[in-house]
Amino acid sequence: MAQYLVTGGAGFIGSNLCHALVGRGERVRVLDNLSTGHEANIADLIAAGHLELIRGDVTDRDAVGKAMAGVDYVLHQAAVASVQRSIDDPLTSDFANVHGTVTVLNAAQKAKVKRVVYAASSSAYGNKAAGSAKVETMIPEPLSPYAVSKLAAEYYMKAFYASYGLETVALRYFNVFGPRQDPKSHYAAVIPLFVTAALQNGSATIYGDGQQSRDFCFIDNVVEANLLACTAEGAAGETFNLGCGDKISLLQVLDVIGEIVGHKVERKHEPTRTGDIRESLADISKARRILGYGAKVRFPDGIKLTVDWYKKLLKL
Ligand SMILES: NC(=O)c1ccc[n+]([C@@H]2O[C@H](COP(=O)([O-])OP(=O)(O)OC[C@H]3O[C@@H](n4cnc5c(N)ncnc54)[C@H](O)[C@@H]3O)[C@@H](O)[C@H]2O)c1
Repeated sequence: MAQYLVTGGAGFIGSNLCHALVGRGERVRVLDNLSTGHEANIADLIAAGHLELIRGDVTDRDAVGKAMAGVDYVLHQAAVASVQRSIDDPLTSDFANVHGTVTVLNAAQKAKVKRVVYAASSSAYGNKAAGSAKVETMIPEPLSPYAVSKLAAEYYMKAFYASYGLETVALRYFNVFGPRQDPKSHYAAVIPLFVTAALQNGSATIYGDGQQSRDFCFIDNVVEANLLACTAEGAAGETFNLGCGDKISLLQVLDVIGEIVGHKVERKHEPTRTGDIRESLADISKARRILGYGAKVRFPDGIKLTVDWYKKLLKL
């Protein structure tokens, strides 16, 4: 039984990691300022005495130092996780995403943590090599303040490995979706918005023509990769793409959701947004080879599970 610290553990991805870790009998502590995360996401684990929640900020050196005591593995998920929000307010994104990450790394190194696994982002690639899958060896081309902040923090992962020997692994998540992703946030992601619109007979807003595509990756795959990344040999100091290797357009997403809910989802087109990327597809061969990652749950199954979850959430 190891001690894990999940930063941002009350958020979408972090809370799913917490449930998986507790399910495996691990000891779990969360550090979260609850800015976009919700205690409700982990309330069952807290009530059962399986998880300790520290309400605090990753930029607060004292709070991070306390959270790090006795920790074996850090899963660093805390960040201001929205491209649009970083365009509206780049200073807040930078402070949390870059300074917060350095604060976590500094404390992890001092506490002699075994490994830090970081939620990096596919936004690092920008519009690089549109038409083909992104490979980790490509020179990044971040387009938004968010993308720059996530990439800067990724470089800090490598720098702490090179400078102090602190083992770090960066997982460049592509578009993650699944249960506990917030549909109500001002900066909500596309799948929660589409699914809730479909279930409530509303219309889905598409920025641009809807032919833009993403490598949508179901949350269970991200959980699997994080757990593997904690101990995989040859992973320290490395960056891995984390998607499914499937190219799916927004129009296709709406078609699949329409089939599941049994009616066509109404579409409303708006102009393309600044910083929006045309195509994003992961080459996941490195993660398969070194982490043993399987990308087991593909889009059609993942989206069915997701629709079921939102049905329950909306009491439908
Ligand atoms: N969801 C995706 O598709 C995706 C894609 C690429 C990368 N990521 C990265 O994955 C991570 C998790 O994203 P998510 O989708 O679960 O978002 P989320 O907003 O649901 O989770 C982020 C969590 O971090 C917490 N947080 C934010 N700033 C904090 C701070 N300064 N101190 C402490 N806690 C703080 C929030 O309260 C929240 O619980 C982020 O680092 C994000 O950049 C997500």
